[in-house]
Amino acid sequence: MIKVAFYDTKQYDLPSFEKYGKERGISFKFFEAKLDLETAQLANGCDGVCVFVNDDVNKDVINKLYELGVKFIVLRCAGFNNVDVNAAFGKIHIYRVPAYSPYAVAEHAISMLLTMNRRIHKAYIRTREYNFSLNGLTGVDLYGKTMGVVGTGKIGQIFVKICKGFGMNVIAYDKFPNPNLDIEYVDLDSLYRNSDFISLHCPLTNENFHMINAENMEKMKKGVGIINTSRGGLINAEDLLREIKARKVGFACLDVYEEESDIFFKDKSGHILDDDIFRNILSMPNVLVTSHQAFLTEEALNNIADTTTKNILDYYENKVNDNELCYHCTNIENCRKKRKVKCF
Ligand code: NAI
Repeated sequence: MIKVAFYDTKQYDLPSFEKYGKERGISFKFFEAKLDLETAQLANGCDGVCVFVNDDVNKDVINKLYELGVKFIVLRCAGFNNVDVNAAFGKIHIYRVPAYSPYAVAEHAISMLLTMNRRIHKAYIRTREYNFSLNGLTGVDLYGKTMGVVGTGKIGQIFVKICKGFGMNVIAYDKFPNPNLDIEYVDLDSLYRNSDFISLHCPLTNENFHMINAENMEKMKKGVGIINTSRGGLINAEDLLREIKARKVGFACLDVYEEESDIFFKDKSGHILDDDIFRNILSMPNVLVTSHQAFLTEEALNNIADTTTKNILDYYENKVNDNELCYHCTNIENCRKKRKVKCF
């Protein structure tokens, strides 16, 4: 039986990982703790570890795991900014799940837009308290409005199709436009100036950090609706708060927040939130926040557990696997995967 220490366990992880683990001869030891230098010891006696977005897989942690005899780290997510892949090279094999359900994220983005536009979140609370007034619940027709989509990859493409289904005009910006798609690409400035709503579906990079800032919001239409299901760092939250207060931004739907790691995924009710900017944003009537929930469908959870356990089996079968990461992946030209050999 392959033994794997599973860090930062959430209740929703259990059914799918228990099922696939049982089917594929993998025994998961579930820990609530996140992986760090202190908790690395929990992996003693395990062949590998399984981590999520907020586990800290730095050089010291990797060396500690290596000392303990850990042979692989499987990420149950796509992003790997929390893993020092250079430090792991030659010691511990690292795998990720590059895609699990783009539908889940695109559908969540559109749910947030629909909820906010038609004030469903307010109507739900009102009618439960026998308040059947319609005052303040007016939305707009999405039909004929312009949606600006940033990033037309797996999620962005599905989101575009959904918007077109509503009869919206869609314009898009992508650093690497895809000529095979039936999408009208524009430059970012035109997207900012012409969109009624803007939805972000690109990765966070050094280049686009805080792309939604005061300067760019200034270019947008008054009353623009901003939807972010990608990464919090794409938006300068302080600037967003200012533009909401100035009535420039009509609403914001946020599934991600730059400083989310100490807040999201936890029950913080009864606590005082120290983050003044986030508290102020949350208090705005035209802001809808979900706590990094866009991926959370049964299909996505199933796909994550399926791919993660397959990655583990591929490690044991010595297979070349495109989900394996190493420092070469930061330099695509040198990527050994092109040469069809294992990373090391
Ligand atoms: P993808 O890799 O299929 O597509 C990303 C697209 O963004 C590509 O077309 C790429 O050319 C484009 N792009 C790259 N840099 C850009 C830039 N600077 N400006 C504009 N476009 C740029 O990725 P996918 O699967 O569509 O995911 C998109 C993002 O969604 C992820 O990077 C992640 O941040 C976020 N995500 C959020 C989840 C959630 O639960 N909230 C779950 C999964 C992903």
